[in-house]
Amino acid sequence: MLTVTEKLPASAASNDFLPLLGTDYVEFYVGNAKQAAHYYINAFGFKPLAYAGPETDLKDRVSYVVCQHKLLFVLTTPLKADSAIAAHISKHGDGVKVLALRVEDAADAWKQTTLRGGSSYKEPQYLKDSFGEAVISGISTYGDTVHLFIERKNYRGAFLPGYIEWAPSFAAHLADTGLLYVDHCVGNVGWHQMNTWVKFYEDVMGFKNILSFDDADISTEYSALMSKVMSNGNGFVKFPINEPAEGKKKSQVEEYLDFYNGEGVQHIALATNDIVKTVKDLMTRGVEFLKVPTSYYDELLDRVGKIDEDTAPLKELGILVDRDNEGYLLQLFSKPVQDRPTLFFEIIQRKGAKSFGKGNFKALFEAMEFEQGLRGNL
Ligand code: FE2
Repeated sequence: MLTVTEKLPASAASNDFLPLLGTDYVEFYVGNAKQAAHYYINAFGFKPLAYAGPETDLKDRVSYVVCQHKLLFVLTTPLKADSAIAAHISKHGDGVKVLALRVEDAADAWKQTTLRGGSSYKEPQYLKDSFGEAVISGISTYGDTVHLFIERKNYRGAFLPGYIEWAPSFAAHLADTGLLYVDHCVGNVGWHQMNTWVKFYEDVMGFKNILSFDDADISTEYSALMSKVMSNGNGFVKFPINEPAEGKKKSQVEEYLDFYNGEGVQHIALATNDIVKTVKDLMTRGVEFLKVPTSYYDELLDRVGKIDEDTAPLKELGILVDRDNEGYLLQLFSKPVQDRPTLFFEIIQRKGAKSFGKGNFKALFEAMEFEQGLRGNL
């Protein structure tokens, strides 16, 4: 079997019609952006960065922007009932609207993707203020989710034109939690829709399918799902796509689809260089994580071989370990971060491994099903 790296095109940059510099930001439509910003600042260790709202001539919404290392989250709430944002929240609850990707040329990104069948969400828009110019364009993806292309090479302001710097004194003394960048973003799509969206990422965005998991890989006694991992040419952007598969009971993807009222972002994986420290911090600050049975650790080293970390803190915190041909990874999954059982976060530390923790799927999904059962949705 080829490793993930071998399956990435070697000279991707030269023939990539959509060269991506990485994830730019993730925008969440939420019921109360002011309070959500405090959750990401106090619980996840983000810093306040920028704000837009009525005070900046934006009459129909407010957006708070928070950051941590390369991570940028935008939290947006509508101010009026009759708005597309209000309709989005009414239908989906709090969730991800925008997965924004950084590009050198946003007009060309829009041209290349719409030429290949992408549905336009935003024609190239040239935004200016005293800090320079940014260009934004975008296309739609699964459900009501969109990709925006962000060109900010000529912009030096806090976030984007229209936003003002937000630096409240309450946050000055708060430390970060070592979260660095978006490792991958996973989408849940409907029954038999996975291959449609795999083809979308291949045809419209030039991505490659680098890994596939079928229901034999991802099943428990009760439920199953299938997943394919899509990656752009340089590997900076990875989007696994899940669809439900038949099982004895309702799969976690079906529960998501029921409560999100359709397809959408299931989880965002955030990278750290010290998962033990990061997870300890996050737990102390109130982030809730899934717990696998402690028997998971009984033969851990037999399964994954020698690792640099002590197993005691991994067991205490519930951190999972998996190995592939290239190294190993440590990961842990939060509980849903809003009232509906929809979006959650993964915390991941890669030590060579470029895969996604296949060896942990069973234990992880059993832990998820336990929670699903508590909600009466299994
Ligand atoms: Fe993941």
